[in-house]
Amino acid sequence: MSLRPILIIPDKRLKIVSEPVAGIDDGVRALVKDMFETMYDAPGIGLAAIQIGVARRIVTIDVAQKDTGERNPIALINPEIVSASAERSVYEEGCLSIPDYFAEVERPAAVKLRYTSLEGETVETDAEGLLATCVQHEIDHLDGVLFIDHLSRLKRERVKRRFDKLARQRDE
Ligand code: NI
Repeated sequence: MSLRPILIIPDKRLKIVSEPVAGIDDGVRALVKDMFETMYDAPGIGLAAIQIGVARRIVTIDVAQKDTGERNPIALINPEIVSASAERSVYEEGCLSIPDYFAEVERPAAVKLRYTSLEGETVETDAEGLLATCVQHEIDHLDGVLFIDHLSRLKRERVKRRFDKLARQRDE
């Protein structure tokens, strides 16, 4: 296992639409292990493979309460939203690729989710609350969409300018 560097905006790879996973092999299992290690280390509650530069439709999530030390790791291969509730909810979101920035995003409050498990089984499950938001946020990553893309243009441009400037300072 190894920690992988997390891509930060404005890295263009974050805009890539990731490719479906054809089959679960040792490479996928090793990648998922690295993703969990990287996610827990950050720390974060969700990570998409493209955030470590791998354009495959793989997501790791753990929304268990951190303060109890409990873990509930979920790996999603080729996840998709089958249906979404009309009811919506608002959460303050953040993203490991947009460090130290948080903003409220409104999304469907509950979703029906389909994915392939690491064991190769097709799973259909209902998600609500924080898990529903997290799943939607991560699946967005697989389509090259960031949570700031759901904000007003004014807010988004302000964040982008801040990170463009940071990137320039890093390069100097
Ligand atoms: Ni994110």
